[in-house]
Amino acid sequence: MNHPLDQLRQTGIVPVVRIESASDAPALAKALADGGLLAAEITFRTSAAADTIRWMRRTVPEMFVGAGTVLTPEALNEAIDAGAGFGVSPGFRPEIACESVRRGMPFIPGIMTPTEIEAAMAAGFETLKFFPAEAAGGMKMLKALHAPYGNLSFMPTGGVTLANAADYLALHYVSCCGGSFIAPTDAIERGDFALIRQRAREVSDFIGALRSKMSDHKE
Ligand code: 3PG
Repeated sequence: MNHPLDQLRQTGIVPVVRIESASDAPALAKALADGGLLAAEITFRTSAAADTIRWMRRTVPEMFVGAGTVLTPEALNEAIDAGAGFGVSPGFRPEIACESVRRGMPFIPGIMTPTEIEAAMAAGFETLKFFPAEAAGGMKMLKALHAPYGNLSFMPTGGVTLANAADYLALHYVSCCGGSFIAPTDAIERGDFALIRQRAREVSDFIGALRSKMSDHKE
């Protein structure tokens, strides 16, 4: 069986979404899927997150919809009840990590220091969100952080765009990136789903081209 996070790897750059109203969820799911992206991280930064996950899954059942900015075990459970397929947090909090293991929920905790990496490793996690990627030192920092921990893989998020994603994705220990530029909150609010579809298409074309170019050339 495939690992649940393989769909994030396939997506390459996962849309990170802050959405204010769950009534926009069906159009958002369709726009992303029409653009070729079948995964999304809906951040629990608004009260619309859980219902958005529910509606996106109903609209596009094959979409892998997860919860981002999971800051408490309660939010994690809310996300699971809404049908989230994975969870992501900006930092590492053991209570949330334990709860994700207890509930069997694929979870990607955030790190930006060796101490945080080691805490996440001790809790059994091997895929970690490198956040905030660009502000924390970008590629240079990620290479240095990875060096002592050969078996880990990372999801850089924070300042990732089409201008720097290829560099990250060229590293064999980068599973995928996350970025809010694909489905910006202001585009959702003004109903500009054509823009979101277009950005999703740009990303899926970009990932397709990147894969065919460098399938044998990972660093
Ligand atoms: C996140 O929630 O992971 C980040 O805020 C996304 O960062 P970005 O807006 O720079 O893509």
